[in-house]
Amino acid sequence: MKIVVLVGLPGSGKSTYLERMGVAGLSSDAIRKLLADDETDQSIHERVFQTVRYLLRQRLEIGRPVTYVDATHLTPRERAPYIRLGARYGCPVEAVFFDVPLEVCRERNRSRDRVVPEEALKRMALKLKPPTLEEGFSGITVIAYT
Ligand code: CTP
Ligand code: MG
Repeated sequence: MKIVVLVGLPGSGKSTYLERMGVAGLSSDAIRKLLADDETDQSIHERVFQTVRYLLRQRLEIGRPVTYVDATHLTPRERAPYIRLGARYGCPVEAVFFDVPLEVCRERNRSRDRVVPEEALKRMALKLKPPTLEEGFSGITVIAYT
């Protein structure tokens, strides 16, 4: 079994990447919609991520070979719960980092349905810490913007 944690700003292409591979990840936006009928509701943050972790544990319990987690995961602190779950279930945790310039994310963000406020995007870019092996990831794939 394996856990793959996606890391990247809004608009960096995380959900598009999964869509192109034809796989369904555990998406914090999809769970926001399931819980609050609104994929942009930021007022239930903790509940959303409890649900993500709950579903991930259920998948690990039934032995699903790979689980992708689709959320921004900008800091080691936000990523740590997956490293702990991996250790508990004895499975490696990998990161896929979408290394896309803020300017490109901003452009893509502007031209889609669900627009993240410009201020929020800027704040998130300041917060972003690329994933490292020291955090406990078994491997890191960087998707560079070309
Ligand atoms: N997009 C693009 N080229 C790529 C990847 C994405 O033009 N290589 C476009 C998508 O079509 C979409 C927008 O950029 O309109 C945002 O991509 P998305 O995958 O939705 O970004 P996420 O990282 O999933 O953003 P969020 O965290 O807000 O869900
Ligand atoms: Mg997305």
